[in-house]
Amino acid sequence: MSKSNPMWGGRFDCSPNKIMEDINASIDFDKRLAEQDVAASKVHCAMLARQKIISDAEATKIIGGLESVLKEIRCGDFEFKKELEDIHMNIESRLTDLIGAVAGKLHTARSRNDQVATDFKLWVRDAIDLLLSDLDELRSVLIDRAEQEAKTILPGFTHLQNAQPISLGHHLLAYVEMLERDKSRLLDCRKRLNQCPLGSAALAGTIYPIDRQFCSDELGFDEPTHNSLDAVSDRDFALEFLACMQVYGMHLSRLAEELVLWSSYQFQFVKLGDDFTTGSSIMPQKKNPDAAELIRAKSGRILASFNSLSLTMKSLPLAYSKDMQEDKEVVFDAFDQLCLSVRAMTGMIRGAQFNKQRMLEAAKVGFPTATDLADYLVQKMNMPFREAHHCAAKLVHIAEQNGTMLEDLSISQMRAVVPDLDDEVLTLLSLQTSLNRRQSYGGTAPTQVINQIKRLRG
Ligand code: ARG
Repeated sequence: MSKSNPMWGGRFDCSPNKIMEDINASIDFDKRLAEQDVAASKVHCAMLARQKIISDAEATKIIGGLESVLKEIRCGDFEFKKELEDIHMNIESRLTDLIGAVAGKLHTARSRNDQVATDFKLWVRDAIDLLLSDLDELRSVLIDRAEQEAKTILPGFTHLQNAQPISLGHHLLAYVEMLERDKSRLLDCRKRLNQCPLGSAALAGTIYPIDRQFCSDELGFDEPTHNSLDAVSDRDFALEFLACMQVYGMHLSRLAEELVLWSSYQFQFVKLGDDFTTGSSIMPQKKNPDAAELIRAKSGRILASFNSLSLTMKSLPLAYSKDMQEDKEVVFDAFDQLCLSVRAMTGMIRGAQFNKQRMLEAAKVGFPTATDLADYLVQKMNMPFREAHHCAAKLVHIAEQNGTMLEDLSISQMRAVVPDLDDEVLTLLSLQTSLNRRQSYGGTAPTQVINQIKRLRG
């Protein structure tokens, strides 16, 4: 027994091959579950005592020991051992060092299968809470910046071609809407995961008179899981969390891409702060949007993590299989990368200097008020929209040939296309007017933008 594993050495003649140990061990990464593991073990132990499965004195010893182990882990004094495979066995083994054989009673009526499912759910729940608070910070920075830029004119694009003038504030609020959905997805995921697997044991439940409701309540779950097989083999919660992070990361990547484009010499819509850019080791003039580029790239990495766990889970028979140990690294990594991305984005947006002049100049190009002209013909000349579209397009063509903007055409030039045109039309073709008149609910008029900001701030 001395050479083999102290937890299950009974039926083994020799210790595992070094390669076996390497492929099997998860301690290098699942040590991140230490806090949750101790919390769940303390509750499990208290429940065993309440149910008279172990004595109060034994429970007191075990709980005291678990607290000492946690202290060692927090101070960095704990020696994690690969031969003890994972965080669960590392903690139990250290508990045995500290309090002796009574430590062995802790594993009564549970298995590492329900233990790891519980620990991981607790971890994901904390991770969601952290993400939600970072999300709120980014959201409020975006709203503040949108308020400052409600009247700033930005060329709105479709196909990355000038389309219609929009408010920069409106553009920033589009991302706030995405964040609202990201938030509600995360909250939804949190709600669904909040069932306690503890007490499902290896796969079939247990013969001991345990109190699953007690453990569920103590650990802040809504209720115990209802099927022991499902409880130990479900990783939907991790997949769902990855899916939420993936969509969230995708949203950040779109904003990041815009920052990359907008900070380029060709656009010059924005200057990013020195604190979120880098220089070049060879080109002295350079200021590069590395953080934005990395956010763009990390969203791909988060998507890959979602794919990885989906493929791990696909076709796995019930109940637990060791494949499922591969769930943690991808979730940890996706979470770390997303947290960094959100924080970097918050910093970049907070310090971004928008170049209103450049945006305005860029918004003038490409006849962006041609739709306003067509709309005028519909409203005032009673033209069907298709005909109005055709006339406006002709006027664009003339302006293009003359090298002028639409609003610089004279009324007589316009009357060559639309004979009875009133010169009132000329007052409607400026960018500012075009913007101000888009008053439909959710439209880009600054008054609408301000209304939305009020709604968002509640
Ligand atoms: N380290 C394992 C994991 O994360 C714990 C569960 C082990 N269960 C087992 N039956 N070998 O999946």
